[in-house]
Amino acid sequence: MKEYELAKLIHLVSAVVFGGVLFVEVVMLPVLKKEFGEDFYKKVEFTLISKRGIKTVPLFVLALYLSGFYMFHFHLKTLDLSTSFAKLLLLKVSLALLIIAGVITAIVLFIRGKSESKIFDYIHIFAFFLAFAVIILAKLMFIV
Ligand code: HEM
Repeated sequence: MKEYELAKLIHLVSAVVFGGVLFVEVVMLPVLKKEFGEDFYKKVEFTLISKRGIKTVPLFVLALYLSGFYMFHFHLKTLDLSTSFAKLLLLKVSLALLIIAGVITAIVLFIRGKSESKIFDYIHIFAFFLAFAVIILAKLMFIV
């Protein structure tokens, strides 16, 4: 179906952007902390998020979840809970819901000026590992 394929394309592109943002935040940026100290790292992180991230990333996150729920509603009608496809899909969606709870908490912390708090960093690490688990589940559910 054309609409489903379009939603899948939007979902995939948004997942690449979202996963990429988390990769930069958790794997790439912390090198600045080691090389130039915590203050410099926090300044760069704050600039990236406030000047660019806050205006762009939420749009991709919205597209990711809207397209995901759109596709999910097609599966819902015929979902057979005894199949591993259904179990893995539900696990994938549950993990994705945990991630969005983390993302919303991080946005609220940022808006309240608490981006320096350790919780802010922990949420990124938590979202990073969960997002990669979700991506693996997204393919695994069609294989096993
Ligand atoms: C962090 C959030 C999410 C990430 C990173 C993610 C990632 C992915 C990826 C990479 C695919 C494979 C796309 C492809 O094969 O071309 C996929 C498929 C899928 N996702 Fe998500 N997803 C997320 C959230 C959600 C949510 C919230 C739902 C539904 C409520 C959802 C429902 C689906 C469905 C139904 C498919 C199967 C598409 C198909 O027919 O191949 N996803 N997801």
